[in-house]
Amino acid sequence: MAQLWGGRFTKETDELVYNFNASISFDQKLYAHDIKGSIAHATMLGETGIITAEESETIVKGLKGILADIENGSLEISPKYEDIHSFVEATLIDRIGDTGKKLHTGRSRNDQVALDMKLYVRDEVDTIKGLLKDLMKTLHGIMKDNLDTYMPGFTHLQKAQPVTLAHHTGAYMEMFKRDYSRMCDIYNRMNYCPLGAGALAGTTYPLDRERTAELLGFSGPTLNSMDSVSDRDYVIELLSALATISMHLSRFSEEIIIWNSNEYQFIELDDAYSTGSSIMPQKKNPDIAELVRGKTGRVYGALISILTSMKGIPLAYNKDMQEDKELTFDAIDTVKGCIALFEGMIRTMTVNKEIMKTSAMNGFTNATDAADYLVKNGVPFRDAHGIIGRLVLYCIEQERAIDELSLDELKNISPVFEEDIYDAISLETCVGKRNTIGAPGPDAMKQVLEINEAYLSSLE
Ligand code: ARG
Repeated sequence: MAQLWGGRFTKETDELVYNFNASISFDQKLYAHDIKGSIAHATMLGETGIITAEESETIVKGLKGILADIENGSLEISPKYEDIHSFVEATLIDRIGDTGKKLHTGRSRNDQVALDMKLYVRDEVDTIKGLLKDLMKTLHGIMKDNLDTYMPGFTHLQKAQPVTLAHHTGAYMEMFKRDYSRMCDIYNRMNYCPLGAGALAGTTYPLDRERTAELLGFSGPTLNSMDSVSDRDYVIELLSALATISMHLSRFSEEIIIWNSNEYQFIELDDAYSTGSSIMPQKKNPDIAELVRGKTGRVYGALISILTSMKGIPLAYNKDMQEDKELTFDAIDTVKGCIALFEGMIRTMTVNKEIMKTSAMNGFTNATDAADYLVKNGVPFRDAHGIIGRLVLYCIEQERAIDELSLDELKNISPVFEEDIYDAISLETCVGKRNTIGAPGPDAMKQVLEINEAYLSSLE
């Protein structure tokens, strides 16, 4: 047991209590952020004369040495310390002596941990942005390659109207664009520095909070010290955005699983992204898509957990807030893994264009266009709807598609049909004529691709 606060205690902490309270087993993940924050704090303490320039330099040098040694493996983070903050400070004192004891001047672990968590979340937001960008680039490529890959669009998982794979994939592109923009929002909103808030009420030292904020790349200092140490909104916002990303990936995974099934065969997943069965030699399973779908539950769990932990906490810092870490770390690592694997999975899958097209032709996906044909030739829409309904029934009995019927058979159902019906309800026409922006027609899609192209190259 090694703790920073033994002075007013007359007894050793009970071992179970110590272990229950300690966070080093998980918050050691924050070592680099903790040291970065301490370097900024020590630099500012030196600049303001709260400690001497020489002391400041010694501390900064000591902290840099600790960081280097953790990174090169020569310094192990010892579990005998309560948390990462205690470990870094104790190691510093161990290495540079009494000067190290001045690092914590004008600071509390409460503003320190709030800062560490913000620095960590900021970095992770950047990493997730990068992963989303890679995913969107891959999606963009799939869209470009599949402008005329016809497939059925579904509602209620029933064939509805024909679309293209470019259009279908484009829907996910829009979702991931929103996810990306949520990451940017979170970053900007949280980017105020809590360092200097102290335990809850600031300090009497003349800290230069603007300076530490600047040194750490924040937009400025936070404006209320009690809020600073007890705000975890940014964690909640991140988890909420991650839950949404997971939901998007899960929906897409579900489609991949369906498309890859023996019944559909719209796509085939690459061998490198599939797994086999221990008993059934013929199996090639979409485990990655299933795991991405399944892991969504963990990410939702993390969000609900932190929301629940936070809801009863009075101002300012309370130890409940230590519970913000493990699940957040897990959710972030989970989602990063999911995005990366999902990207690889869709990048390497094979699209069975012919099967998709045949499926689009065989599900009466052109029934709406057949009704529109009648409308164009003077039949009121409600009547046209009824006529095509009867036509579809006839086709189902015959086990044929609408365009497989002869003109005579069509005329039997409505005399309005003429030779040009075949062209009017071909897949090419059904898709090709839908060209208002956002629709699957090639002109509309090309416009969207251009917009997405510019969007992708604008991302930093
Ligand atoms: N390990 C603590 C946390 O994660 C650090 C802050 C401790 N502050 C305190 N007053 N006990 O929240």
